[in-house]
Amino acid sequence: MNTGPLRVGLIGLGTVGSGVAHILIEQPERMTRRAGRPLHIARVAVRSPDKPRSITLPDAVVSDDVRQIIEDDSIDVAVQLIGGTDPAGEIMQALLRSGKDVVTANKALLCEHGTELFQLARENGRCIAFEAAVAGGIPIVAALGQSMAANQITSIEAILNGTSNFILTEMLAGGRSYEDVLAEAQKRGYAEADPSMDVDGTDAAQKLVILVRLAFGKRVSLHEFALSGIDMIELADLRYADELGYAVKLLAVAKLVDRQLEMHVQPTLLRRDRPIARTDGAFNIIALEGDAVGTAWFSGPGAGQLPTASAVVADLIDVATGRAARTFSHLDVWRPDSACALQLAEQISRRYYLRFKVEDRPHVLADIADILGRNEISIASVIQHEAPEHDEAASGRRPVVPLVIMTHLTTEGRMRAADRELAGLSSLQPKRVRMPVAD
Ligand code: HSE
Repeated sequence: MNTGPLRVGLIGLGTVGSGVAHILIEQPERMTRRAGRPLHIARVAVRSPDKPRSITLPDAVVSDDVRQIIEDDSIDVAVQLIGGTDPAGEIMQALLRSGKDVVTANKALLCEHGTELFQLARENGRCIAFEAAVAGGIPIVAALGQSMAANQITSIEAILNGTSNFILTEMLAGGRSYEDVLAEAQKRGYAEADPSMDVDGTDAAQKLVILVRLAFGKRVSLHEFALSGIDMIELADLRYADELGYAVKLLAVAKLVDRQLEMHVQPTLLRRDRPIARTDGAFNIIALEGDAVGTAWFSGPGAGQLPTASAVVADLIDVATGRAARTFSHLDVWRPDSACALQLAEQISRRYYLRFKVEDRPHVLADIADILGRNEISIASVIQHEAPEHDEAASGRRPVVPLVIMTHLTTEGRMRAADRELAGLSSLQPKRVRMPVAD
């Protein structure tokens, strides 16, 4: 076994990169014990080498030229921590072609180009380790790739974005505004450089795509399933859900239904007594159902500097011991696509929470009920709090009140058809909130 140092090239020294450097520099003995050899930061590539940083590295190690890592044959492994797909994709290809293993947290890249990159790694006899790409510090890639290998996974239900979960939790608990909590999530290092990917559901969807590839051997693109984020939700929705006994979570789901894969990422109402509904703050949770094990829950810090660095460093240790290469060669990720088809979004059957702002006048509720009824959607309950008496003639405007409707089970197709008709009602304000319910 090789006991010489594992020479590491670190690309990116932002929130996660600094965390990785911090662990490697602060805990050299622990690293050597666990990896069987020292983990040595040989080179670092950053955009601005002169920027003040919380960690100190020798000047000779840091440069703004990633080619110094790509072309250095003495580097064994690159930790690729730049986000997005461009130029991250080209850099990863060059690293693999130059004979380096790659550890990465870049879920956007693996979601979009994972299959090609995994195949390229195989062709070059290298591996890609990506525990940090999904759910921060939670070892979910290891769980799917190794610990649950005896099972056919039948269902994944998860919270995969810490920023969104932090925002939803803090808004309801503290009555704080969306903007205020998002700013705090950015300060705490949970959010992406561009936080729109966190709050519009993209980040969670990219992670789900990676989990689906691991669990079902299925290659899916983001545009193939229903995807929405928390950016359309208001504090009022969280309060109404709470009143009804539910928590609102950005829920990522992939499950086998009649041999087809039902898949979606949407803000969803969950009964408050469920473990997923009780997962708060920047925590993530993944409920995996396997045909042998039943349901297993994995929860923990899903975002932030040291939780994500913890996963990156664990991958580095696996590269150093040779475990990463062995595991990679047995993962389903580089094989051809599985035959299992995606269920059509229109056919997915769920209950729904609907919120409208309506003019407080006769027949409004009847018009909505009529549209829902004609689309065979049955109403389970209605909340409309009494508004103060309003003198329309004196004020010159019609009073507007919120109206919340919970439906019985229906299909997404019927719901979409009803929504098109509801959009034509002049008594409804244009913004309509619709969330599925996972009882
Ligand atoms: N921005 C992500 C989140 C963390 O909030 O969960 C990195 O994946």
